[in-house]
Amino acid sequence: MTKKRALITGITGQDGSYLAEYLLGLGYEVHGIVRRVALEDQKHRLWRLQDVIGKIKFHYGSLESYPSIFKIFQEVRPHECYHLAAQSFVSYSFEDEFSTFNSNINGTHFVLSSIKNACPECRFYFAASSEMFGKVEEVPQKETTRFHPRSVYGISKVAGYDLTRNYRGAYNIFAVSGILFNHESPRRGFEFVTRKITSAAARIKLGLQDKLQLGNLEASRDWGHSKEYVKAMHLMLKQNKPEDFVIGTGKTHTVREFADKAFGLLGLDYKKHIEVDKHLFRPSEVELLVADPSRAKKKLGWKYTMTFDQLVEDMVKHDYDYFSNKKGAT
Ligand code: NAP
Ligand code: GDD
Repeated sequence: MTKKRALITGITGQDGSYLAEYLLGLGYEVHGIVRRVALEDQKHRLWRLQDVIGKIKFHYGSLESYPSIFKIFQEVRPHECYHLAAQSFVSYSFEDEFSTFNSNINGTHFVLSSIKNACPECRFYFAASSEMFGKVEEVPQKETTRFHPRSVYGISKVAGYDLTRNYRGAYNIFAVSGILFNHESPRRGFEFVTRKITSAAARIKLGLQDKLQLGNLEASRDWGHSKEYVKAMHLMLKQNKPEDFVIGTGKTHTVREFADKAFGLLGLDYKKHIEVDKHLFRPSEVELLVADPSRAKKKLGWKYTMTFDQLVEDMVKHDYDYFSNKKGAT
């Protein structure tokens, strides 16, 4: 029997790496689109894929170029496509609105159009975001909650969500959006607040750093673990009907609570080390996100199993070991 082929954009990122491992475990042939520089500097750019690198077929292409994306779809003819590549850092979208739009809107459009023209049977997953709810119009947020984005990143994801819905309606493509709330892991980029906190707590404990500058400590997020969320992406493409789903834990915690927990695990008092820097506040903030994942539970059979404490512990333990080894090596 021929293996199912999955094509992942953004395979070098946090979710892409967990999804690749998960799909390989299910017997898929996994293909990934990467930027050319990634293949030139594998040590730094493919570190999240180090355990499975030999099992993945890489293709280089640019989200800015339709021909390069189209060619890959023509060659691979995937059964499933997970479109995860994006400028994913909300703060940066305030600094460079234009490149965020280019990557996130045009990039999504190029992928959808390639599927329509090269392999219309391919099932498509779009990485939509709880950031689309922005200034939330109801609590908790579910599939029917109105969008009110507060960043160019959020607006770009609403556009991607609308494009996905439009390709579903107009061209009969099996195209869905997963509206995922924040999800983290030891593979999270260091610029995101959770990893910024866990890495700093570890470094402070080891005497490598003394202070940590943060912005808004009162923002509240529904934080889950990436490893569990990628399973929901796959489940969405296994349904009989293409439908969008909200994925989250249903619980929310402030940045302050995350810091308290992370520092506390290392026997540190976060108040002694964290300094609030007004420059790190966003021009418009998303104050509170909390999911109602009940539809995903009922229809996909997806259920989140970890606690907030387990997530923080996983990240802190990893970062403490990581920086202990680094310190030992110097
Ligand atoms: P991530 O770690 O930042 O990974 C982003 C991926 O996109 C990387 O592989 C990156 O490649 C690639 N990429 C960025 N710009 C690109 C460009 N111009 N051309 C080609 N590739 C590009 O993000 P993540 O946390 O895994 O998230 C995956 C997706 O889910 C993103 O679309 C994000 O917006 C969305 N999302 C994430 C969350 C969350 O909490 N994690 C929640 C909701 C939605 P390089 O390695 O080459 O930079
Ligand atoms: N990054 C960062 N750095 N955030 C800070 C800091 C800081 O020093 N101090 C406070 N925060 C607050 C931000 O203002 C925000 O309210 C919250 O911490 C979370 O910020 P991030 O970790 O950068 O994530 P995000 O919520 O903006 O975006 C993430 O989740 C979205 C889903 O809701 C990203 O993964 C997006 O790609 C994703 O779509």
